[in-house]
Amino acid sequence: MNKKKWGSAGLGIFVLGLLVSCASRPAGLSRYDEPARELLNKMTLDEKIGQMVQADNAGLKDPTDVQTYYLGSVLSGGGSDPTAGNSMEAWTEHYEALQKQAAQTRLRIPLLYGIDAVHGHNNVLGAVIFPHNIGLGCADNPKLVKQIGQITAKEMRATGIQWTFAPCVTVPQDERWGRTYEGFSEDPELVSRLGEAYVLGLQADGLSGAESVLACAKHFVGDGGTVAGSTRNRRGWDQGDTQCDEETFRRIHLFPYQDAINAGALTIMPSYSSWNGIKCSANKYLLTDVLKGEMKFEGFLISDWDAIRQLDPDYKTAIAISINAGMDMAMEPNGYREFFTLLKELVEEGTVPMSRIDDAVFRILRVKFAMGMMDEDYVGEGNPALQAQFGSDEHRAVARQAVRESLVLLKNEKQTLPVSKTLGRIHVAGQAADNIGYQCGGWTIQWQGQSGNVTTGGTTILSAIKQSVSDQTSVTYSKDGTGANGADIGIVVVGEPPYAEGSGDNRELKLAPAELAAVNNLKASGIPVVVVLLSGRPLIINDVLDQADAFVAAWLPGTEGQGVSDLLFGDYPFTGKLSFTWPRSIDQLPINKGDGKENPLFPFGFGLTK
Ligand code: GLC
Repeated sequence: MNKKKWGSAGLGIFVLGLLVSCASRPAGLSRYDEPARELLNKMTLDEKIGQMVQADNAGLKDPTDVQTYYLGSVLSGGGSDPTAGNSMEAWTEHYEALQKQAAQTRLRIPLLYGIDAVHGHNNVLGAVIFPHNIGLGCADNPKLVKQIGQITAKEMRATGIQWTFAPCVTVPQDERWGRTYEGFSEDPELVSRLGEAYVLGLQADGLSGAESVLACAKHFVGDGGTVAGSTRNRRGWDQGDTQCDEETFRRIHLFPYQDAINAGALTIMPSYSSWNGIKCSANKYLLTDVLKGEMKFEGFLISDWDAIRQLDPDYKTAIAISINAGMDMAMEPNGYREFFTLLKELVEEGTVPMSRIDDAVFRILRVKFAMGMMDEDYVGEGNPALQAQFGSDEHRAVARQAVRESLVLLKNEKQTLPVSKTLGRIHVAGQAADNIGYQCGGWTIQWQGQSGNVTTGGTTILSAIKQSVSDQTSVTYSKDGTGANGADIGIVVVGEPPYAEGSGDNRELKLAPAELAAVNNLKASGIPVVVVLLSGRPLIINDVLDQADAFVAAWLPGTEGQGVSDLLFGDYPFTGKLSFTWPRSIDQLPINKGDGKENPLFPFGFGLTK
């Protein structure tokens, strides 16, 4: 590992920051050392290894494997729903059933149930779906982000689930990466303050509080800095290689983790990606020396989905590499039985020292003690009081505020906006105008999300417009933008279809022909045109921007479409500012704040107010 020495000034600043930050971090876990050590000393090797294994719900061969393999955790990856469906009730029953399995083991150590609640409790029907992080970055309101974390935690604990793989504190540098929208910003400072706020919100009720969930900062580290064509298929960005010197790596990608740790994040997920050719999940310098040593991270590391298997063609070798590098719990969705057997062999033959196993299990147990999971009166159940608030109007009002604050006004000629509520006719166009799936994007009910209105409840932008106007105003609609002649104004909503992870890697960042046609057809009617863009990132929009009289970037706002109409009709002002530099052409990418590249379409921080 090429560990270039920092400049003395840089190192001094980092050390000073570390000292200050340690002083400010919440009370540590040391008060749980004794009970955790005591429990650890009672455990057999099988029970210890079991705590280090996380199976996926859909991958469980038999629910009793929770007992047979002493599993410490189960997750639901995207779409890994309970067999009884994905209502709040079905999730609650599912969670409680698995906890009952854990309660039948010798030591009765409860399960940590992990899920990607990354913009609300987004696997569950009827949950409030908040704007994805890119929109929250444009809002840049830490107090609001903390509130979102709190509500997400409440809707999770309603079902009992007490661990989310969030916040993603990635610092995306190239919008062609499919996970750009999971990042707040290209700016590490902005990512850091919102990541901190999110952790504080998720754990606001205190780690053992009935309304808190365990946070997980991800993906450690540099997931958003990979270079083009560095993936295994040589075509993409996701899970690729971040190639830069250590000072740059620390300044951009490591930076947000210190605030997340100081805010109390006790799990961190190493990235699939690599740094200068070394996989993060295999990198002992990063996982042990930097994170657990230098940054004093006291929690535990959870691998990404089957990420350990990528480390070596021989699975047993891969396990040894990752566990010895500092990985503490393994997300082995389907192969958890094999993992258990191989890790036990590695310990028995001395390849993985027992001291490493004890360190990993100690870390996991300490977190479970800190969460109150080891208390005599701990109940691994859903929470009826929180179930009564699930998807409530109060929660939706906060999401609607987040939508409002996330929108960025890029163009507004001749004061086209705000639109009057008393016009004769407003024509709405674009299939995305009536599409909750497009509003929510990936990680919504399904891993990849799903176009259409079948995903979950919510308010489309078309419905919101209809609800906003006066009785004297008629609202007409066409997907393709035709039929607008004679209307007073046209509002066309265009967007990207939902995607998640590598499926969203995109070399062109263009709108689909049908989206462009809707704009062209509306423009042909000769009436003023307002364009609303639903996207997980800045796209190449020059032609559409030229045709628009007003243009609003709405990102992936989630279920509360009224947040968009609130601003279109002027009930609230535009306040959002770009948290990503907007490229003028694809050739400019990557282009970021402070990189010296010139003439973006819109700079970082741009946003009109009227
Ligand atoms: C995925 C993602 C990670 C997620 C995990 C569990 O592959 O990389 O962000 O938390 O698997 O779904």
